[in-house]
Amino acid sequence: MKKDKLKDNCEIKKEENIKGKPVILKLNNVFKTYYLGEVPTHALNGVNLDIYEGEILVILGPSGSGKTTLLNVLSGLDRPTSGDIIYKDKDNIAKYSERKITNFRRKYLGFIFQTYNLLEHLNVRENILVGSKLGNSKADIDSIISVVGLSRHKEKYMYELSGGEQQRVSIARAIAKKPSIMFADEPTGALDEKTGKIVLKTLVDINKKYNTTMIIVTHNPGIAEIADRVIHVNSGNIDKLIVNEDKVKPEDISWG
Ligand SMILES: Nc1ncnc2c1ncn2[C@@H]1O[C@H](COP(=O)(O)OP(=O)(O)OP(=O)(O)O)[C@@H](O)[C@H]1O
Ligand SMILES: [Mg+2]
Repeated sequence: MKKDKLKDNCEIKKEENIKGKPVILKLNNVFKTYYLGEVPTHALNGVNLDIYEGEILVILGPSGSGKTTLLNVLSGLDRPTSGDIIYKDKDNIAKYSERKITNFRRKYLGFIFQTYNLLEHLNVRENILVGSKLGNSKADIDSIISVVGLSRHKEKYMYELSGGEQQRVSIARAIAKKPSIMFADEPTGALDEKTGKIVLKTLVDINKKYNTTMIIVTHNPGIAEIADRVIHVNSGNIDKLIVNEDKVKPEDISWG
């Protein structure tokens, strides 16, 4: 039933409802080629894509199709072999020096990893404070703790939290610096349905509250239902781009 609903809601349409929003990241003919001896693998094969400010973009695709490579290149973690990545119409971050890209990532980008990378000897509030120090604006830590639903757990240490709660601390830490773009590679991969949906709701709430652009890689096609747009990556190319006309609340998506 819900699967049919997704089919009805997600049709390939002109991107009218997205147009009008400014483009935050623009990819021009981006290649990433790995060499095994003389043999090239084109992990990205001439990708063109506009990402709009404040959108939730979900990246789907089979294993080995290039999703993580795309995310790494988009976020400056990895440099493309050729092509441009333009931030806000002016800076080509693909051409930045190592130092400049590190600063850029610190200032403007947030990351949610599958392994949470939290500091065991710090409590919830302190872990989040670590995030806020790196950024360009002082964030209101308490309001962030409340957005991720951890107000009752502020003083707890990481071993006193469940997996989903720890994932939400890592989300809070990532948003504490108010990034303009948040990247997440399989943010719910290690979580059960109930916890995964709570984490997704957190991401949607942050997107609404701070207009943070969200780029989410996942194997779970149900997560596509919360997106503004969904791209399907195949053999290093975007082979389908879907505008989701009727977003579903995280608690109502079909899981898996
Ligand atoms: N460092 C590397 N050296 C050589 N080849 C690589 C490297 N990283 C990725 N690749 C290759 O590039 C292609 C894309 O890999 P990528 O990790 O982006 O896939 P993915 O879509 O994220 O897959 P998964 O869903 O399994 O995480 C694969 O063929 C992979 O083997
Ligand atoms: Mg991957």
